Amino acid sequence: MPSFLFWHMRGEERRACASYRFPSAMAAPGWCALWTLCVCFTALQTNALRVTMRESTMEVVRGDYVILPCSFFTSSPLSRLNIIWTLAPFSSPESPIQVIVYDHGQIIEDPSLIGRVGFTGLPWSADIMVNDTRVSDAGVYRCMVNNPPEAADPGIGELLLTVLVAPSLPACRWDGDMDTGGSVTLSCSVAEGIPTPEIRWDKLNPEEISLPINMEGELSGSVQIINVSAQTSGLYRCSASNLLGTENCYINLSIYSGEESSSGILQGVLLTLSMSLMLLALLVLMTWLHRTGQDGRWRVSKEEEEEEGYNEIRYTPSLMKRSFV
Ligand SMILES: *[C@@H]1O[C@H](CO)[C@@H](O)[C@H](O)[C@H]1NC(C)=O
Ligand SMILES: *[C@@H]1O[C@H](CO)[C@@H](O)[C@H](O)[C@H]1NC(C)=O
Ligand SMILES: *[C@@H]1O[C@H](CO)[C@@H](O)[C@H](O)[C@H]1NC(C)=O
Repeated sequence: MPSFLFWHMRGEERRACASYRFPSAMAAPGWCALWTLCVCFTALQTNALRVTMRESTMEVVRGDYVILPCSFFTSSPLSRLNIIWTLAPFSSPESPIQVIVYDHGQIIEDPSLIGRVGFTGLPWSADIMVNDTRVSDAGVYRCMVNNPPEAADPGIGELLLTVLVAPSLPACRWDGDMDTGGSVTLSCSVAEGIPTPEIRWDKLNPEEISLPINMEGELSGSVQIINVSAQTSGLYRCSASNLLGTENCYINLSIYSGEESSSGILQGVLLTLSMSLMLLALLVLMTWLHRTGQDGRWRVSKEEEEEEGYNEIRYTPSLMKRSFV
């Protein structure tokens, strides 16, 4: 038997395997089976509690629930089982908390997680469920299991939890001189998002173009436009996106040409509009005067109308007839 096989075995197993006389013509698969058997035997013989984490990194969207898996294998009765989950939060790694503890059949939760954390498979597994996840739940979790008098080897497992957050609605602002030749700064900032949202600025018309952006920190970016002209006018979009989605805000820039032509047109429009309104008012007044002069009963009927609703029905047709004659 080759010596490398014995490398993995302790004294007793080595003797057990060595005492077996291998036929010289043994096939390779037979060797493998035997080796596996010997390794299994070794594992059983070690007789120590072993913790395994089925995941080493996990992600959850804020507000969703997550099950943090922690399995253990033990051959002793579970009467003295003790489980401790700790968390070193990303926000304060130097001050870990005890998330949840199982000891002598009692369960103790950290105040920040009361009502949100629980074991899901006691006493056979140390899995926990965290409901309504928050950003502060992100960090390094450690699952420690003890089952005296059995030794633990290793009795501890670790996993990293990331809490993802969609970008919040960014805020678009502009600042500067909107007259031709001036310079304008468009800025955009987003309050939150995990992973950190990517910020970009685009001009949407006449055709969509991406604009060079100056980042101010991780969560805000601005675009400076110098020597603005009529071509600068248009709709600008800032978008904040990460793997959970994209949120946009917009700025509609209108650059004043400086000449009076555009305001002249506006004045013309306003003048025409007010003149038409005056003409209309005059027409209405004349119609009314004409009506009161010709038909005295109109005044009476108007008063009755205010007192009794049904009169309105009776007089309306005649009113309409008059208006169209
Ligand atoms: C989490 O929520 C689920 C469903 O809403 C519930 O069944 C479970 O008991 C909750 N777990 C904890 C630890 O509160
Ligand atoms: C500003 O732009 C105009 C044309 O849009 C150009 O003629 C002028 O030279 C520019 N001025 C500066 C200072 O770049
Ligand atoms: C932007 O402003 C211009 C002029 O002020 C207007 O014609 C245009 O409809 C606006 N666009 C949007 C998308 O608001």
